[in-house]
Amino acid sequence: MSIHYSSNFFQAKRKYLSVTWEDFYTTRISDKLDFFFRQGRLFDVLFSQQFDREFIERIFTITNKIRLVSKTKYGADFLRSLLAHKRAMLYFVQPSTRTFLSFHSACQILGMQTAAVQSIHTSSEVKGESFDDTIRTFSSYFDIIIMRHPLEGHAERASFVLNRTKRPIPIINAGSGKDQHPTQALLDIFTLMRSFQPIGGIDEKTIMMVGDLKRGRTVRSLSYLLKNFRNVKIIYSSPDEFRMNSDIKDFLAEHNISYTETSEFEKILPQADAVYMTRIQDEHDQAGESKKTDFSRYALRLEHLDLLKSNSIIMHPLPRRTEIDPQIDNDPRAVYWRQERNGMRIRCALLAHIFNLETKILEY
Ligand code: CP
Repeated sequence: MSIHYSSNFFQAKRKYLSVTWEDFYTTRISDKLDFFFRQGRLFDVLFSQQFDREFIERIFTITNKIRLVSKTKYGADFLRSLLAHKRAMLYFVQPSTRTFLSFHSACQILGMQTAAVQSIHTSSEVKGESFDDTIRTFSSYFDIIIMRHPLEGHAERASFVLNRTKRPIPIINAGSGKDQHPTQALLDIFTLMRSFQPIGGIDEKTIMMVGDLKRGRTVRSLSYLLKNFRNVKIIYSSPDEFRMNSDIKDFLAEHNISYTETSEFEKILPQADAVYMTRIQDEHDQAGESKKTDFSRYALRLEHLDLLKSNSIIMHPLPRRTEIDPQIDNDPRAVYWRQERNGMRIRCALLAHIFNLETKILEY
C-alpha cells in the first residue's frame, strides 16, 4: 500500500524544469508525487493521493499527542515555541469558515504568525497582477502558503511556480474548486477511525456518500483516501444529474474498491456504517442547473434515524443547509461537530510534519 517516492526531489525538479504547465498539470498525479516531497516528508500538500496508510497513522499519532500536550499551560507554551520563528500566509479567495479558522488556530497553537488575503479585491490581483506573481510575492514574506481557490489546479500551479524559483515554500491546498480538499479528507478519516475503533476500524465498512457528488470536493478527496483501507464499500447516493465523475470511479476500479451508484436515499440507509451528507454546490452552477433538480429527498430527517444501524455514524463536512435536520445533532450517531473540531488538531499535526517537528512533539 505504501507510496513509493524517490528520495531526490531535485531529480524530480530537473525532470520537470523544462516541462510546460499544461504538460505538468495533465501528468498523472501518481507519476509526479516526487515533485511535492522533500527530505523524507511531504513539502506541498495538494492531493489525497499523497497520503498512504503509514502517513495517515503517523499524522494521527501526532494529532493525539498534540491534543494531550495542549491541555496544560506548560504543554501549550512548548507547542507555541515550536514555530515562533515562522510566518504563514492564509490565501483564501473562496469563502470558508472552518477551514480558514482551523488552520489559523493550528498556526497559533504552534506559535506561527499569520497574515490573510481573503479576496482578490484586496490584493494587487485586482490591478492585473498575475496569480504566479502574487504567489511569488507571498514567498518573499512567508514560510508557507495555505490556500483555498475557486479554480481547480491553482494550488498545484502555485507549487509548480515556486518549486522552480530559488525560494520555494510549502503550499497546502485548503480546497481547490470542484477538485480536492485533502485536509478535509484527513480529518474525515480521523473521525471515521476514531468512531469505528470499538468495531474494528474502517476496514470492511460501508460508507454512503450523499448529495452533489459531481461537484463536491470533499467526497472526491475522501474517495481517494479510502483506498488505504481493506474491503471498504462505497455507496454513492445522488440525483442522476449529480453523480460522481468518472475519474474517481476509474480510480476506484483501478484499486479494486467496491462502489455502487444509486438515486435512492432512504432505502439505502440501513446498509451504511457511515452516512456522509453533503450540500448542493450551487456556487459552481453555470446555468442555474441546481434549481432544475429536486434535492429535497437527499436530506436526513428525524424519522430516518430508526433506519440507521445503532453503531453507524452521521457525518457532514459542513456548512449544511437542509441536508440534516438540526434536531438530529443530539443523536449520539451525529459526529459532524466532532468532525469539525478534529480539523484543527489534524491541521496542526500536518504543519508539524511539514516543518519536521514530529520527533520533538513525540519526545515531549
Ligand atoms: N468543510 C469546509 O471546508 O468548510 P468551510 O468551507 O467552512 O471551510
